[in-house]
Amino acid sequence: TTRILTGITTTGTPHLGNYAGAIRPAIVASRDPHADSFYFLADYHALIKCDDPERIQRSRLEIAATWLACGLDAEKTTFYRQSDIPEITELTWLLTCVTAKGLLNRAHAYKASVDKNLEVGEDPDAGVTMGLFSYPVLMAADILMFNANKVPVGRDQIQHVEMARDIGQRFNHLFGRGSEFFTLPEAVVEAEVATLPGLDGRKMSKSYDNTIPLFGSARQLKDAIARIITDSREPGEPKDPDSSHLFTLYQAFAAPEQLAGFRADLLAGLAWGEAKQRLLQLLENELGEARERYQTLIARPLDLEDILQAGAAKARRIATPFLGELREAVGLRSFR
Ligand code: TYM
Repeated sequence: TTRILTGITTTGTPHLGNYAGAIRPAIVASRDPHADSFYFLADYHALIKCDDPERIQRSRLEIAATWLACGLDAEKTTFYRQSDIPEITELTWLLTCVTAKGLLNRAHAYKASVDKNLEVGEDPDAGVTMGLFSYPVLMAADILMFNANKVPVGRDQIQHVEMARDIGQRFNHLFGRGSEFFTLPEAVVEAEVATLPGLDGRKMSKSYDNTIPLFGSARQLKDAIARIITDSREPGEPKDPDSSHLFTLYQAFAAPEQLAGFRADLLAGLAWGEAKQRLLQLLENELGEARERYQTLIARPLDLEDILQAGAAKARRIATPFLGELREAVGLRSFR
């Protein structure tokens, strides 16, 4: 069997990038009869970027409802909140103690903060918490705890999965004595949606405020699409699909023959307004029904809680004994 695992940080409302990069491929993969899947709400990770308790709580609810609305089968998979598995934070410490600081110095998120500080002449570590710095170790614990071998993610997370490999390998080497503790994971990245662009053409991201909400109202979806930046070519002038992020967005949701038709029409001078209309229709076809399920789910937080509690119990049936073995391995044993 293949162990598949992925998570989403609970700091905001899920957007099309999360859906195309992680949720959709993860759900498709979970339908393989040989797959054993673990999907979770990364709420410990959320604390790194957000100190607004209401926002975290709201986002956990939205992201839980999103997974289920998109077709996740919570019976067949293991679906949980990271913070319901305290073993993960304990494993994070065991891993922290074998992780070279130099490895974390190279992490993109940390480096980006340092570079920004240097640009404006600040102390390099200004505003950097230990949470941000050790973010990849927490993520390694998520993955290694369940011995996942496939991790469906967008391109921005590849480095973190590689770090999880390095950290797992280091632990195996130090304490494995021939029998390995951790499976080394691999990132699974879908080429066409590895980095879904946002309204302005940069990576779609909460931090750039350029997202298209996954389950916004029809109105919100329409307004967002209207804001997609296009070049100034007039109706009738040929458009270049390959330099248009509107086309890239369309590509992430279209069947091959649909995409070929769209390309041909752009080359033949389709107006941008019309092109946006087509994108809107495409998204509506893919997401319309799921949006209705989402509305129903989000109105029933107690039912979601039951589902998540059942998922946490399932996850802990693996995590608790495994952590016991790991404690033994590093020398945290009872005297009895
Ligand atoms: P997060 O919450 O930033 O994003 C969730 C998933 O969505 C993908 N994604 C995108 N994919 C394509 N195009 C985009 N514009 C785009 N924006 C986001 C991300 O690559 C990610 O797959 N640290 C992780 C959460 C996490 C995790 C894990 C993931 C915690 N532990 C263990 C996998 C395994 C994060 O912050 O993702």
